[in-house]
Amino acid sequence: MTDNSSSPSNSWPLDQFVQDPGYLAYQEELRCLIFNTAQTAAPSRETSPAPGEDGPPGEDFEALAQTKAALSTGRRLVYLKNYVAEVAPWLDMFDSERAFTVQVPVLARRCPALLYAILALSARQMERKEAKQHSFDSLELYQEAIRLLNPLLQARDLTIIPICVILCCLEMMSASPQDWRRHLEGCAALFDAFDINGFSGGLLQAVFWCYVRMDLCGALISDGTQGTIVPLEKWLPSGANPTSAADLFREHQSPDMHANYSVYLCSKVSELVADRTRYIELGESNGCDSAVFERRWLRLWHDLQAWLQDRPPEILPVKIIDSRPFPQILFVHWAGISSNQLYHTACTLLLGSKPREIKLDVGHTGSAIWHAKCICGISLTNPHQGCLNNAIQPLWIAGRLLSHKSEHLLLSKLIQSIEAMTGWATCWRIADLENAWGYKVR
Ligand SMILES: *[C@@H]1O[C@H](CO)[C@@H](O)[C@H](O)[C@H]1NC(C)=O
Repeated sequence: MTDNSSSPSNSWPLDQFVQDPGYLAYQEELRCLIFNTAQTAAPSRETSPAPGEDGPPGEDFEALAQTKAALSTGRRLVYLKNYVAEVAPWLDMFDSERAFTVQVPVLARRCPALLYAILALSARQMERKEAKQHSFDSLELYQEAIRLLNPLLQARDLTIIPICVILCCLEMMSASPQDWRRHLEGCAALFDAFDINGFSGGLLQAVFWCYVRMDLCGALISDGTQGTIVPLEKWLPSGANPTSAADLFREHQSPDMHANYSVYLCSKVSELVADRTRYIELGESNGCDSAVFERRWLRLWHDLQAWLQDRPPEILPVKIIDSRPFPQILFVHWAGISSNQLYHTACTLLLGSKPREIKLDVGHTGSAIWHAKCICGISLTNPHQGCLNNAIQPLWIAGRLLSHKSEHLLLSKLIQSIEAMTGWATCWRIADLENAWGYKVR
């Protein structure tokens, strides 16, 4: 875990945006504002923000006029269209109700801060995709969003939660891997302070799950040394028994929730591996001795196989072709793509830390290489953008296990195409893989 081949590379190409003093100052300000709010929290109103909810008539009129004016200048309409067509579908990957595509823009009509946040995110994505180096509309929009957010934070208006998560996505899009967690901490503090979890209902629940997907990415980047920032028991309703988490997810009876369960399970694996690493390498007294580790390991393995067994039809592949070097595995439902990939990721990680005492007699399910090939095959077969940029860490985990040159080449091409297609910074992982393989493929 401490060798160089597995730590995130230093070859991260900073884009100009991240170095802009204006951006850095605002980002720091946002962080402080969020932490201040989180420390003194207690929501002023208990209800979830609902699209089209009526505030006081005068205030509402003013907000509508403000958002209308915001859209009448520059390329803002282009940004809004790009948000709806390109960015929101990533965020809604596990959401047939399409919270980010439909509910958030509707809510934004009456909330200028939210509107500026989505415009900023969308502008940033277009700038990255077009590899723009110098002009940053996104910066101005980001700053305006933060300015408008401030009074909402003071008022403890719950709309701050989607706004902060969207601004966090913007930061993540060009964050260096070393900074990844720092950007997530603010949102984590808000969820904690306002008592929001994966079962809170409505838009806030959707936003929570969107956030934890990024949190899990951070845990995967840490390469077995850290779990998620929001601890797993806080994903569940307060007082819920973690050993019956499976039932909580099952009760929902929705394919999306089954997909979200895979995010939960994969995060559990990161937590377990990190606990064990820290117990052994840092002597942390977290109770993760061999016996405990073995018990937790087996339980998780069992939960993962149950996840696979219990998949609703929407999450099942419609076609599997056992081709080389990678199998082709086609899904029609977006949530199927990433959730199955996370299942394979979780299995790969677990198998990588399997206690010697445990003997599995399960055919290919017990083979880390087989899972790794499925991870790659899923991304190559299903070109959905949201799933592609969520695939980067799984692809890196899988890629390290591949030994064939042809596989390396295919994988590095895939990762490059993901950055070109989505604007999401991903190519730094190729350098990390090359380190692990011991030679340069490009
Ligand atoms: C599952 O997670 C997505 C975000 O990844 C979220 O939008 C959706 O609402 C969640 N589904 C349920 C049923 O909570």
